[in-house]
Amino acid sequence: MSTVEDFQKPNPIKENRQGLIGKPVDRYDGPLKVSGKAPYAYEVQPPSAPSYGVMVPAGIAQGRIITIDTAAAEASPGVKAVWTHLNVPKHAAPAVPVDFWTGGPEPVFATDRVRYFGEPVAFVCADTFENATAAAQLIAIGYAADEPNSDFHAKAHVLDITPGPNDVVVGDFAGAFAEAPVTLDEVWTTPVQNHCQMEPHASIAWWTDGVCEAHTSCQGVVRTRGILAMTLEMDKENILLRSRYIGGGFGGKMFTYADLILAALASRELGCPVKVAFTRQHMMHGTIHRPATEQRVRLGATPDGKITAMSLLGVSHSSEPSPFFERTSGFAKSLYASPNRLLGDRSVPTGLPPGGPLRAPGEASGTLSLEVAMDEMAEKLGLDPIEFRVLNEPEVDPTSGKPFSIRQLVRCMREGAQTFGWDRRQAAPGQVRDGRWLVGMGMAGAIRGNMLMPAKCSIAVDADGIVTVRQGMTDIGTGTYTVLAQIAAETMGVLMSDVRVIIGEAEAPPTPGSGGQFGAATAGSAALAAGMKLRHAIATMAVADPASPLHEGVIEEVEFRDGGVAIGNRSESLKALISRNAPEGLDVIGESAQASDGGAWSQHTFGAHFAEVGVDPITGETRLRRMLGVFACGRILNAKTARSQLTGGMIWGVSSALHEGNEVDVRFGSFLGQDLASYLVPVQADIGELDAIMLDEVDDIANPLGVKGVGELGMAGSGAAVANAIYNACGARVRSYPITPEKLIAALPQ
Ligand code: MOS
Repeated sequence: MSTVEDFQKPNPIKENRQGLIGKPVDRYDGPLKVSGKAPYAYEVQPPSAPSYGVMVPAGIAQGRIITIDTAAAEASPGVKAVWTHLNVPKHAAPAVPVDFWTGGPEPVFATDRVRYFGEPVAFVCADTFENATAAAQLIAIGYAADEPNSDFHAKAHVLDITPGPNDVVVGDFAGAFAEAPVTLDEVWTTPVQNHCQMEPHASIAWWTDGVCEAHTSCQGVVRTRGILAMTLEMDKENILLRSRYIGGGFGGKMFTYADLILAALASRELGCPVKVAFTRQHMMHGTIHRPATEQRVRLGATPDGKITAMSLLGVSHSSEPSPFFERTSGFAKSLYASPNRLLGDRSVPTGLPPGGPLRAPGEASGTLSLEVAMDEMAEKLGLDPIEFRVLNEPEVDPTSGKPFSIRQLVRCMREGAQTFGWDRRQAAPGQVRDGRWLVGMGMAGAIRGNMLMPAKCSIAVDADGIVTVRQGMTDIGTGTYTVLAQIAAETMGVLMSDVRVIIGEAEAPPTPGSGGQFGAATAGSAALAAGMKLRHAIATMAVADPASPLHEGVIEEVEFRDGGVAIGNRSESLKALISRNAPEGLDVIGESAQASDGGAWSQHTFGAHFAEVGVDPITGETRLRRMLGVFACGRILNAKTARSQLTGGMIWGVSSALHEGNEVDVRFGSFLGQDLASYLVPVQADIGELDAIMLDEVDDIANPLGVKGVGELGMAGSGAAVANAIYNACGARVRSYPITPEKLIAALPQ
């Protein structure tokens, strides 16, 4: 097993001989996508004409199905099958999963019990999508509904939350808070958010001689194949699970839903390919969402600005199908110093649909309270928000006491301040006017933990000198294809055009997939490990081959460059060497894992957001004018794809501050926003000038690439910077997100 010391040894990524690492290389899959040659799951061409499956969502929050009449649907044109809990083909019963990464079976229509609004309760398969949709409308369902249990905010009780066994307790928070000369105690709320991936969850499956080929849209092919196998009670080796192109994940495609299970079951029963997709309306309830939260932040400080007491306590909702709830306080363990801390989260069981991770789970919602509380506290202390944060910069992780692998938060704030023109900010609100707009600036810190997961990768070279990377990995739009090609090309000393990347196939060497911003570092470290093994095999081959100009050279002196191997000025192409010695090609598997001693460090990515907004005090409208994020997140593999991840996260944070949030209809446990007209997200015109700067950083503790993640970080703190800018513009503090015009007007000082 590797240690941190092993990670620090020279390697081809650090050498970066071709300069590919860090370069804004165009997307490997870009030409395929813009020319329509990259099919998403629902567009994959099956071997014969597919049938179309349509799901029927439950129309109550919770209760039982008393009657279900499918006769009219069965008699409807083109219908091949109608399934409910009464006649669904036998498959696995619900079971408690062994662990998250394995998951458990995901049966459909297991009982007559409805657990949440929108839970799929029936299925129609027909020759066309239209016939299936028409027949699905003819299914008549009678329910016995339970008393609704959907009103999270009525049960949240964040104000009187008592310390619990899982809370993070450092020192004596209560004592320090009671004695603090300057204090703050406020409550923030954040709403339900839906992933709304551009590509809703969709699957197609067909069977050949007992083997199921299934294409679906998921973040982790290995986990998904395992769940499908458990659910259909079959050998996973008999499933070819594919997820080659994915139109967004954001945490919502970590899991397996009824579209895949039904496509696989129906294609097996009907003997033809079957496609099933969630509609935009159905995905709002039928998949997962980020649960709403209530958060209470208490800060105590000395008059000169040292935080002496810090508490963030959050409450969020869980559901009958899933214990998941939003944990708002985790990031606060490591962000700012305070000798006395109380951090924790509670869940309130509800009858709402299952919640789950949505981009920067925890940080995205938790920074919306703490990073605004920091702004409010700075004002109480008469300090600049940046200087207040700098004063509370910890030397080591303030909760674990571990050293940081690297921490450049202060540099992010300083460089951001300079680039953004922070010195032009007026400390008092309401001072700057531009026509009818009140203009203000705000900032916030960003943090997100870093993880390296166990993963494998194969790298092969063939007799044409073509290098092929193969991995049970996904590209959810983040750029995985591209960064793997960069890593392989740099490791093997070949052109990127001589690298093939095959991902999205579950039977390939396994990875945990894309999520938690661990994807690139995890998959990439395995690719580097495989490349190093392949280099050793090739070098051994070259020095042993009397026909090679490298014959009897020293293995350690073999260089990989220009598509070939070399020792000094003796060289030959990979094509020549491999075609002579291994005409079938060479293929090796490498693996990555966190360093055995990596846990001795506190590992995070950091950033600082700066926003300038205009507020119209008459209409309450807020417009983002410009925004800058400065991030320190390890070595950047690809400046273009990394920047896109960061700016995408920033924009989502703006959305959290200003636009986004789903209302709960407490009568039915449903969400009112069910399409992109009623569920507000920002459009181009809502986002002004926006940029992300990535500081030079290499984290040699994290992995041999020195890379961390960028996917979640951009969203952490971004919304708080906007909220703080609103206050600076007009003096209104709105602690209930999103900050809509009507809330803002109500909060304006007279
Ligand atoms: Mo992460 S919650 O998989 O965007």
